[in-house]
Amino acid sequence: MKKAILITTLLAALPLRAEVTFTKDVAPIIFNHCAGCHRPGEAAPFALLNYNDVRKRARLIVRVTEDRVMPPWHAEKGSFVFHGDRRLTVKQIDTLAQWLKAGAPEGDPAKLPALPKFTAGWQLGKPDLIVKMTESFPVPAEGRDIYRGFVVPLNLPKDKWLKAIEFRPGTRSVVHHCLFSYDTTGEARRLDRADRQPGFRRMRRQGRGVGSLGGWAVGGQPRELPDDLAWHLPKASDLVLSMHYHPSGKPERDQSSIGLYFTDQPPRTAFAGVQLPPAFGALSGVDIPAGNKAYKVTDSFTLPIAVEAFAISAHAHYLGKHLQMTATLPTGKQLNLLDIPDWDFSWQEQYQFKDFIKLPKGTRLDSMVVWDNSAANPNNPTVPPVRVRWGVESEDEMGSLTLLCRPASGERYATLTTAYARHLAEVRTRTTREMAARVQGANGDSILDALLRRNDRNRNGKIDLSEAPRWLKPSFDRADTNNDNALDAAELRATRDRLKLNR
Ligand code: HEC
Repeated sequence: MKKAILITTLLAALPLRAEVTFTKDVAPIIFNHCAGCHRPGEAAPFALLNYNDVRKRARLIVRVTEDRVMPPWHAEKGSFVFHGDRRLTVKQIDTLAQWLKAGAPEGDPAKLPALPKFTAGWQLGKPDLIVKMTESFPVPAEGRDIYRGFVVPLNLPKDKWLKAIEFRPGTRSVVHHCLFSYDTTGEARRLDRADRQPGFRRMRRQGRGVGSLGGWAVGGQPRELPDDLAWHLPKASDLVLSMHYHPSGKPERDQSSIGLYFTDQPPRTAFAGVQLPPAFGALSGVDIPAGNKAYKVTDSFTLPIAVEAFAISAHAHYLGKHLQMTATLPTGKQLNLLDIPDWDFSWQEQYQFKDFIKLPKGTRLDSMVVWDNSAANPNNPTVPPVRVRWGVESEDEMGSLTLLCRPASGERYATLTTAYARHLAEVRTRTTREMAARVQGANGDSILDALLRRNDRNRNGKIDLSEAPRWLKPSFDRADTNNDNALDAAELRATRDRLKLNR
């Protein structure tokens, strides 16, 4: 009896700490930071739209928010603000934990805020043109990832300027990402006709008549290009979707839809993507020994003109660990453009800066990609780890960062793209030389004799494309001056001299 009185008096003496409740404290966090995806028809597997939805999962919600797994957002706070930054504050995360500790009470229903006005379906509003894959594509329950191209005829009567593409996956459980491009050459149609299944395997053509229009990956939010920027979409072009499917354990069919948003106003200037290292690392000799915890590739490029950057993205596969790009201004000041210290293959976001970032001529961009191929990496798809090299399958690796920018007023776009093309050639040459030097180191042969003796399997005196060793592949197209898919003695000698290989 005495004890009970004592406790009551003690409680009464404590300063009244307002109880954390769902309606007053938790709902504003969940509605604004979670419900956009956690509602029917969107990316997340269950809804978080009312007290019951959230109470049922309170324990899990506290864990994933404390671990910063949810809301998904992998960029650290950098030098600039990104659009749609989803990160929770420490205080918000703490509020969720306090609520769980208090027994997850509902609180006063009158305090419940209204749900934000969500847009059902197309997030950017009604598209000017909606198109769909012409057939559904079967994705088996198991097996390798599938990379497949699909042609979607647009039948545009005249050239268009495109502000945005919104991608709605048909079957979310299997669609991992999709790259968009246009094709005016008819090659995609030809490939499609020649393949018995819907779609086709891979398009080789680059350059004239074919152009990139960005892409979508799991977790990506559609967004318009800022200011007056737009992609040029030539009349009569086909839209080409390069899809990456990931089997889900259940047989599925996918037929994804695409919304196109146009503008009548042509932009004042084109924009460019500065990708470092170039070609998703294909030219950097990525070769990760089994067990290596921190295999690193870096690349640097100095801007030949002043630019205005507006978005940045990163790409790697499962072993990606730390991806970063910085800008060092001519004054020596260093800016952090994107820093993802704990890469997650499932979330590939394009980060758009809130405002254009002015980078003066002479600014050095430095990118770094670190992979973790140790058994301690929980995302390592192969246990025990095996040697992993560059390639397009999910079990291969790639890695790079891409900064999207336009020339500052008065600067020439071509100056930027020419310097970047030169950089790409330099990276390719450097890698080929390094890899060749490693091969040469093995014995005292002349590199050409060694090549022909070891690699000319059909003994025709040439190195065919299929016979080219790994180190020669990145330089193959350039070396094959007569385009016959084989390098004869003269072409090999010219390549040796150009790359300054020993003897
Ligand atoms: C951009 C979309 C998006 C946002 C925003 C988002 N989620 Fe998620 N959430 C997902 C997806 C997709 C999954 C399923 C992930 C998977 O299967 O790997 C998921 C899964 C979860 C899970 C299950 C995790 C598990 O291990 O099973 C929880 C819990 C969760 N989210 C809570 C939240 C909370 C709380 C918020 C807000 C603070 C939030 N999410 C914001 C998309 C989102």
